[in-house]
Amino acid sequence: MKCEIKHSAIAGVGSYVPENVLTNFALEKMLDTSDEWICSRSGIRERRLSAADEATSDLALKASVRALANAGVSPEEVDLIIVATNTPDMLFPATACLVQDGLGAKNAGAFDLLAGCTGFIYAMAVADQFIAAGTARTVLVAGSETLTKVLNWQDRSTCVLFGDGAGAVVMKQAPEDRGILAVKLGSDGSGGKLLQLPAGGSRMPASAQTVAEGMHFLQMNGREVFKFAVRAMEDGAGEVLRRAGLTLADVDFLVPHQANIRIIEHAAKKMNLPMERVAVNVDRYGNTSTASVPIALEEALAAGKIKDGDHVIMVGFGAGLTWAGLLIKWYNFSQ
Ligand code: UT7
Repeated sequence: MKCEIKHSAIAGVGSYVPENVLTNFALEKMLDTSDEWICSRSGIRERRLSAADEATSDLALKASVRALANAGVSPEEVDLIIVATNTPDMLFPATACLVQDGLGAKNAGAFDLLAGCTGFIYAMAVADQFIAAGTARTVLVAGSETLTKVLNWQDRSTCVLFGDGAGAVVMKQAPEDRGILAVKLGSDGSGGKLLQLPAGGSRMPASAQTVAEGMHFLQMNGREVFKFAVRAMEDGAGEVLRRAGLTLADVDFLVPHQANIRIIEHAAKKMNLPMERVAVNVDRYGNTSTASVPIALEEALAAGKIKDGDHVIMVGFGAGLTWAGLLIKWYNFSQ
């Protein structure tokens, strides 16, 4: 007997970014940097800053409400909530549980997933497994970050790069050959120190000394992460195509993690894709980590750039080190 495994597709998407805009010109007044340097090295022009009373779960909740409305799904129908984040409201409870409560999703299980900026793609891969196994019918996956709260605003090599935001998708079973066709998840923990927030966990518990030494801020070796990112994008995209038995010529649209326009353009070039078929918003939001892929996806859908039947690749990389690729044959649930 043939065992039919049904994979999942995205039934709705939503996003939210805080109102407060911080431009490169405003940063020029705060530290020794320039709009010219930031634009030419990263492609970023401005980013959003969460308010003092706005936490990661608040952003995730707003994006999730929009995704559920877009999918026409009620909170009670949600079986599972996964929030991918590197900046949870607190160490515990999970941010996903705060979102569950805010939504009133009383039939849902909820947990967070930590995989650096790749977390959203990892979470989609996990959701797909729950749906394929029949353990869940409707899964809400959110990527949400308030990274500007853990940046050292005196460190120009990191503070100009990141921004706050959230994006969410509702995933349901896809018909026949549609939905997620292949996933590649990668990790290399030997590179963990290249991008980390050292203190506040069990290795280096919070103390007056850790605060004084600035150990609660994000630390990054940008040059090394850049080299890794270029390789990771190629591997993530290439591997999902290979696993699905497709080639670069089959790719209709790319939704890459938004860290640096130079990394995105390099990936597009390697995939022979013109930039019209690549989602880009790093110029307006900076690197929003786990939120970058769903925010970019929502924008591409709103602009009519992704159509029913298109092969869409998502690729990402980040702290861990981690990287991932995910290939979807798009299914339009509203048709
Ligand atoms: O989600 C994953 C997270 N991270 C990433 O994806 C980051 C990947 N890396 C990058 O995007 C790039 O490496 C950066 C944008 C972070 C940096 O660009 P780069 O071309 O690799 O520059 P660099 O680090 O090699 O620095 C070049 C110079 C240095 O000066 P010297 O040593 O050549 O005199 C820096 O001190 O630029 C200087 N610099 C700055 N100058 C003005 C570093 N940050 C700034 C700044 N403004 N904000």
